[in-house]
Amino acid sequence: MPERAECWQRRDLVGHDPVWFVGRVRVANRVVLAPMAGATGSVFRRLAREAGAGLVYGELVSARGLLQSNRKSEHFLTIHPAEHPVALQLFGSNPHVMAEAAVRVAQAGADIVDVNLGCPVPKVAGGGDGCALMLHPDLVYAIVLAMVKAISPVPVTVKMRRGWDPEHPYAVQVARAAAAAGAAAIAVHGRWRGQRHQGPVDLGVIAAVKAAVPVPVIGNGGIASVADARRMMEVTGCDAVMVGQAALGNPWLLGQIAAALTGEEVPPAPGAGERIEMALRHLRMFVAEEGERALPALRGPLAWYLKGLPGAGAVRERINRLERAAEVEDLLLNYRDRLESAPVDAMPSPARVRW
Ligand SMILES: Cc1cc2nc3c(=O)[nH]c(=O)nc-3n(C[C@H](O)[C@H](O)[C@H](O)COP(=O)(O)O)c2cc1C
Repeated sequence: MPERAECWQRRDLVGHDPVWFVGRVRVANRVVLAPMAGATGSVFRRLAREAGAGLVYGELVSARGLLQSNRKSEHFLTIHPAEHPVALQLFGSNPHVMAEAAVRVAQAGADIVDVNLGCPVPKVAGGGDGCALMLHPDLVYAIVLAMVKAISPVPVTVKMRRGWDPEHPYAVQVARAAAAAGAAAIAVHGRWRGQRHQGPVDLGVIAAVKAAVPVPVIGNGGIASVADARRMMEVTGCDAVMVGQAALGNPWLLGQIAAALTGEEVPPAPGAGERIEMALRHLRMFVAEEGERALPALRGPLAWYLKGLPGAGAVRERINRLERAAEVEDLLLNYRDRLESAPVDAMPSPARVRW
């Protein structure tokens, strides 16, 4: 038996052409960054693409808010040339509003416009949007059809869950409705609404959706390692994997999975210095584009890069109290220097990369 690590690198066992298409959009590999509110803004999407994701998704935007020229919603339409291909996601449940908003998103330069069918938070699902649409395949059909008519040939995709709850397990019906209306790909997060983003992921429902629709299916949920990604593809037959939480502070994982799935050598996990360098890059890019006033929104993302490093808790706490980008930068530079002069055996293995 070859070592498991060798199996992942053997093309004959991998068997996936890295290139695939979402409608007319060519995607260079099978790794997709999941949409995550507060995390997958333009800067992180760029870092994720650079690290190896083939396609990146932006966080949910209110269709109604966009049409009302809500400045916060409009801000989400910012796309940098280095992000492409990029999908931006809308939430809403009125087909006309969704279609009109999709036109705005397509005009902003998104390669793909996605429909949120998974958001569980009461503010969204309580209004009949997001995951509440998992109860209404007919309405999903009407929404996707209206959007496809409005923006074709720009592809429309949907991102759904396992279902609303075990009493209403309509993933296959919803997927069929979306595909029949012209959705170019379907992402399936294999958890119920009540699980939010934690707990066991049902790969069976992803396999069932894959068997039910003629368009590419993207498997999502619980992928935190190359092994998890391989398992997702093998068990479900999905066309690509979507990585969420495990990519936060660890965009390298996207490149590692992409390499493994295409039979290339898997790059090593980053050391502490590289992780802090990435946090610094994220900080500089973010502040250059969003301004120093937006710094509080970056506290969470910066902390993710430090997770598992010695003394990270104290550094995080200090970051939370700082208001100037230059102070945060100095703190991170000092922290990096301190770690680099520490004995090697004091270093932990990098967070969240399990082999
Ligand atoms: C902080 C956070 C924000 C999220 N925001 C969105 C969102 O805007 N749109 C969406 O479709 N899913 C959103 N999700 C769900 C993720 O896209 C993904 O489906 C989920 O985290 C499961 O993948 P994972 O187990 O790899 O994290 C969010 C998840 C998290 C943790």
